[in-house]
Formats: sequence, structure tokens, C-alpha cells
Amino acid sequence: MIEIKTSDNNTIKKHNILTMRTENILVIGANGQIGSALTGYLSNIYGADHIIASDLRPKENHDGVFEVLDVTDAKRLDELVKKHHVTQIYHLAAILSARGEADPLNTWQLNTQTYFNVLEVARANGIKKIFFPSSIAVFGDHVDRNLAPQHAVLYPTTVYGISKAASENWSNYYYKRYGMDIRSVRYPGIISYQSLPGGGTTDYAVDIFHKAVKGETFTCFLSEDTYLPMIYMDDALRGTVELMEAPADNLSIRTSYNLSGISFSPSELTASIRKWHPDFEIIYQPDFRQSIADSWPKAIDGSTAKQDWGWQPRFDIDAMTKEMLEKLGEKYRRSILEI
Ligand code: NAD
Ligand code: SER
Repeated sequence: MIEIKTSDNNTIKKHNILTMRTENILVIGANGQIGSALTGYLSNIYGADHIIASDLRPKENHDGVFEVLDVTDAKRLDELVKKHHVTQIYHLAAILSARGEADPLNTWQLNTQTYFNVLEVARANGIKKIFFPSSIAVFGDHVDRNLAPQHAVLYPTTVYGISKAASENWSNYYYKRYGMDIRSVRYPGIISYQSLPGGGTTDYAVDIFHKAVKGETFTCFLSEDTYLPMIYMDDALRGTVELMEAPADNLSIRTSYNLSGISFSPSELTASIRKWHPDFEIIYQPDFRQSIADSWPKAIDGSTAKQDWGWQPRFDIDAMTKEMLEKLGEKYRRSILEI
């Protein structure tokens, strides 16, 4: 057992590196906000040759193994699993909350059919572990919005949330019925600099940093006092791998764990940004995403994750803001990011 340092010099928990080097991990939806950061993070831990990134289209400048995969195509998924002797699957492909409302039936179809493809191909091929990302969107009416508990009645109000809540239950079903080792977290809104987010209600909290770094005024689609659960990408990635590497016997949740991070409103985030950019300006023009945000909790209780596998977030709002402004500032200066 050793401690592993990521490229960001963060230490993740002790793992058996010999065991980890025998894993071959397929990441589906690898070009998205999480996948762009996760593939590099997993490569640092398991070895780049052991990570197979996949998405609808190849990604420019991708180092390492990449396969084009539309995961609605179960046959192609099966071929890739066999070709690369895949032992674990991280299934990230989905249509997110705000974009999903534009076409509810297609969103339900895409989000659930792709997950069934993953579950069935994994079952047929004896895949050892699956990671499924759920969301704070599973919560809705009749939950304590000040601190949504691990165990709550789920009345999601978006098709995205409905698809995630259903998928959580299917994860538990496949675990109980077939003994499959499926692990999942309910991510808060994720804040990251690596790539732009893809159609979520929490996206304002990423877009705002791009405007701040460019010296532009930000128009926020949520009201100034809308609190939502959020998490910095470093914490999200570390939590994900800590859960995936936790001893199976420690896990009491086979639907999805609340992954707590931080909670703030647009006006609190603005105040944090102004510590480094005092002239930063924001205006508020709430749109249809306000009602989605209003149906979600302000914060979530991560105590079950803490108890079962030691979850502890590290980034508070100012630590996150400082790093986001630094990293995006560097990116824009080097003109790496397409504006
Ligand atoms: P994203 O929209 O940025 O990326 C999704 C990726 O999936 C895209 O690269 C897209 O091309 C790919 N994709 C879509 N359809 C596909 C298909 N048929 N076959 C293969 N690939 C396909 O999303 P993200 O923010 O990276 O989120 C990843 C997962 O995490 C999603 O399931 C999302 O619901 C979940 N999640 C994200 C957040 C967040 O704040 N980013 C929060 C909670 C949960
Ligand atoms: N960040 C995601 C969204 O806003 C939450 O799952 O859709």
C-alpha cells in the first residue's frame, strides 16, 4: 500500500498500486466537463495505457488511448470492452438538467438507455466495477432544502433528475440481483477550469470565472440569493476515486452517496471573486433555470460518505476561487482555451 500524488500534488488515499495497474478503465463521455479532467487524473493513478477514453467524437490533443463510441450502440460498447480487456467502466455520458428540458423524451431515452447498455454489457463481460454519476437533481419537493439528507423521498422535477433517480435504483437492483459492484455519488454542481460545462443549471458558477478573468461583466441566469450545493473539481475527482477504491464491505449505499462540497449563492461567489478582481461586475437576469435551481437543495449532507469511506472535501469557496482565477488566467494568457 502506498500514497499516490496526483499531478496537482494532491495525495489520495492509500491504494494497492499493483492491483490498480491491472485495471483497464473505460471512460464513456470522456470529452465532457468531468471526463476532460477525470481521464488525466485516472491516468496518473492507474497508468495512461490503462485508461481508454471514449466519446462521440475524437478529442483534439488527447494523449493516450481514445475510441469513438456512441454508447447508444451496445454492440460497439461490447466490442470495445473485449478489445481493451476492460475491467471498470466510468459512465459519464448524459444530457444534463437545463439542456434536458428542451427535449424531455429524448433526454430520458438517452440517459436511461445508455445506462442499460452499460449495465448489460458489463454483466455479460464480468466487469469488476462501474461508476455512475448521479446528481443533486434527484432531490425535489418535500426534501429539507437546507440540508438534503442521504435518505430522502425523491420527487425530482426535471427529466434529468427523474432519469438519475431511476438509474440510482437500477444500480441498486443490479447490485442486489446480480452482485455487480456499482458505485455512485450524487455530485453537486462541479466547478472546473479544464473545460466548459455542458448544459447544466449550475454552469453559471463556471461561466462567471471566464468573464471575471476576461474583465467582462457577467450576466447571471440565477438570482443573487440562489444557494446551491457545489464542489471544486479536485475534490470531486478525489472523492470519486476514493469511493471506487474503498473496500466493498464498507459501503452501505448502493443507490448513490451524497458527495458534499460547499454551498454558496451567486452574490457570495461574486464577493469571493472581488477579493482578486475588485472591479468585477455582475447583473442578474433569471431565466427558466431559476425554477430548476429553486427545486434543488441548498446543501447536502455527506455524513454517510464520511462514515463509510472517509469523505472530506478540502476546498472552501475562497480556495476554489483563487485556484480557478489562477488556472484560467494562465489558460487565457497562453490562449489554449477557445473563447
Ligand atoms: P458533459 O455534458 O460536459 O459531458 C457529457 C459527455 O458525454 C459529452 O462529451 C458528450 O459528447 C458525451 N456523450 C453524450 N452522448 C453520448 C453518447 N451517446 N455516447 C457517448 N458519449 C456521449 O457532462 P459532465 O458535466 O462531464 O457530466 C458527466 C456526468 O456527470 C453526467 O452523467 C452528469 O449527469 C453527471 N453530473 C455532472 C455534474 C456537473 O456539475 N458537471 C453534476 C452532477 C452530475
Ligand atoms: N451540474 C448539474 C446540472 O446542473 C447537476 O447535475 O445539471
